[in-house]
Amino acid sequence: MKPIQVGLLGIGTVGSGTFNVLQRNKEEIRRRAGRGIEITMVADLDVARAQSIVGPDVKVVNDARAVIANPEIDIVIELIGGYGIAKALVMEAIAAGKHVVTANKALLAVHGTEIFAAASAKGVMVAFEAAVAGGIPIIKALREGLTANSIQWIAGIINGTTNFILSEMRDKGLDFAVVLQEAQRLGYAEADPTFDIEGVDAAHKVTLMSAIAFGIPVQFDKAYVEGITQLGATDIKYAEQLGYRIKLLGITKRTAKGIELRVHPSLVPSKRLIANVEGAMNAVVVNGDAVGTTLYYGKGAGSEPTASAVIADLVDITRLHTADPHHRVPHLAFQPDALSDLTVLPMSEVVTSYYLRLRVADQAGVLAKVTGLLAGAGISIDAVLQREADEVSGEGGTSTDLIILTHDTREGTMNDALAQLQTLPTVLAPIVRIRKEELN
Ligand code: HSE
Repeated sequence: MKPIQVGLLGIGTVGSGTFNVLQRNKEEIRRRAGRGIEITMVADLDVARAQSIVGPDVKVVNDARAVIANPEIDIVIELIGGYGIAKALVMEAIAAGKHVVTANKALLAVHGTEIFAAASAKGVMVAFEAAVAGGIPIIKALREGLTANSIQWIAGIINGTTNFILSEMRDKGLDFAVVLQEAQRLGYAEADPTFDIEGVDAAHKVTLMSAIAFGIPVQFDKAYVEGITQLGATDIKYAEQLGYRIKLLGITKRTAKGIELRVHPSLVPSKRLIANVEGAMNAVVVNGDAVGTTLYYGKGAGSEPTASAVIADLVDITRLHTADPHHRVPHLAFQPDALSDLTVLPMSEVVTSYYLRLRVADQAGVLAKVTGLLAGAGISIDAVLQREADEVSGEGGTSTDLIILTHDTREGTMNDALAQLQTLPTVLAPIVRIRKEELN
């Protein structure tokens, strides 16, 4: 049978990895897919560079629309990124009856509802394994492997840049800004790392996982997003002393009131496997009512790890493109007419436990005042640690760090209590609040 023909829009790191792996593993991929899969056309602004990657047998153009217009092309891979031209091209490819493979988490987290609806109406597939956690087949696991389960929660380290920065901060006792500079110098962080360090990239990914896990529309605008820019080495050190590591987690959880959807730094017990995921690696923990807790670990970015996910999608489409669209795996795991309207909770309704650090005057009654105020707000304390005054440098023993771990508390309640605590004259600096997840 004639190979399935693929058009590639954008041949950067992931695109060249996809081309190379398809070439290298051509025969095994054909045996799995039942048919050859070939990239026969590439669009890239730098035509000469693209041609040097793919060789003379592949047609290279600088106009992506020429790929979409080519009737020989069965599948379009979109690796341009962003919401602008990429969205227009994906919609045009769908309208032209092409199946689409994309690694574009931002596009799907924001415009997924429109894109999936257009694809369903046209009877084509939009596959996006590479959009979440790079080479880890987490979309496949959630959408197919765990399909028997009522998924209860997901917690993931789904941004390698921030995990690398946090690992370095812990290993070397350095502050965020110093490590970020080093990460940029080494090429681990982009020149503009905003989406990574502010948690936006992780929020795009957890939004997609949440939709698939709970059968809800993609709702990036409802996600709570907090990055790692405010984290200090001091809190990483204290967390370590208390038996925790700080990780940037993407969390989505089913609760009686609705769905939690959030990204923020979290204390995680050091004994959990996910707490020991270091450097640029990714990991996702999924808890289902039948299977219990499962863990998926691997490279979340990079040329061939991401190509691994892109090609898995190409094989799926090759196997399924002649099937009746109703017999394919739905884009969001649940049938489009069976999506739920479960509410995504505002952050003030999220219930979690907390690490608080207060720089306080080291004088009689301060601890009682602080704990009394928390008790008055109905916040139950799990542990208190007071550093010896002389351990706080440069303060002449007149102030100290008070570290408090709380039991589960509603975020809105904690916000009110923190506002009150902050007004105490004996609280000398902005209070540090980091959420804590036991993940058990
Ligand atoms: N910038 C992402 C990360 C990889 O650092 O994990 C692509 O999603």
